[in-house]
Amino acid sequence: MIIIGIETSCDDTGVSIYDSTKGILSNLLYSQTSIHKKYGGIVPELASRSHTEKLTLLLNLCLLKSKVDMRDIDGIAYTSGPGLVGALLTGASFAKSLGYIFNLPTLEINHLEGHILSPFIDNFNLRKGIFPCLSLLVSGGHSMFVNVLDIGRYEVVGESIDDSAGESFDKVARMLKLGYPGGPLIEKKSKLGISRKYIFPKPMINNGIDFSFSGLKTSVMNKISQVNMNEQAVFDISLAFQDSVMNVLYEKTKRALNLYKYNKLIVCGGVIANRAIREKLNSINGISVFFPKMEYCSDNGAMIAFAGYHKFLRKNQSSALIIDAYPKLRLF
Ligand code: KG4
Ligand code: ZN
Repeated sequence: MIIIGIETSCDDTGVSIYDSTKGILSNLLYSQTSIHKKYGGIVPELASRSHTEKLTLLLNLCLLKSKVDMRDIDGIAYTSGPGLVGALLTGASFAKSLGYIFNLPTLEINHLEGHILSPFIDNFNLRKGIFPCLSLLVSGGHSMFVNVLDIGRYEVVGESIDDSAGESFDKVARMLKLGYPGGPLIEKKSKLGISRKYIFPKPMINNGIDFSFSGLKTSVMNKISQVNMNEQAVFDISLAFQDSVMNVLYEKTKRALNLYKYNKLIVCGGVIANRAIREKLNSINGISVFFPKMEYCSDNGAMIAFAGYHKFLRKNQSSALIIDAYPKLRLF
């Protein structure tokens, strides 16, 4: 079975082609960073326009690279939510139009499911015997623990009550005048920071498995107003902030694993591209940890094509021709 995956939930246009016998044949991404950078964050209208401009081009390149044409395709999977409504609608209308023209089934994919399955894209055998297990998903839109009962069966058991981890990276980067997106820039600066020069709170670290990152952001803002913000202070604050997020994720993940008696953990989402955070989570004793490859951490079409293939196996039926998007779609 050969599936096209289309991802347009936020500011990355991702198109990919997955072959169930050969794996990912192509995975192309157009990142809109250069468009949004000057505004310090994503401008939804510009995101939608850019997706519309790039989707056809990316699909044509993917087909060329994969050495297949539309007659070889068995289905089209696309992100139906959660995300920015306008951005989601561009992917939905593109996928449904393709489905209509080429008489192919289309399938709606929850973006969060795409992230959760992302560690298994290139080695599906890895997943054998892994479910049920815990997943920690940390991205720009979400920070959550998910009880993964099986592929397609999810229970959200912990969430952020305010900002997500990725959002706090982006907001702190803006305060430090580093630019957008904040995560990779803070990670880079943190490498030059002096350890424990500053220590920020670790919100809710001692209770529960929900998260809160907005108080941490306020502490960083207060510190910035108190110290002489030279280059070294930027490095030190970046490191101290990253350490706080990392320690919260680490302690809470240990608690959640204990609570649900799991010894297997999937970690995924854009924030997992952070090497310090990856290494810290990988150091939890007695646990098998499954990470996505770097290119599958942030949003991409491959995870949607892959999740789409598994959804086609479960539910061999096309979604209705009606074009809709679900910005607040939950994971079930
Ligand atoms: O998964 P993703 O691409 O999009 C959403 O589904 O939200 O995640 C994007 C988020 C952004 O907030 C970005 O700052 C963060 O992931 N991120 C990182 C790193 N690379 C991306 N955060 C920390 N360290 C990184 N290296
Ligand atoms: Zn994402």
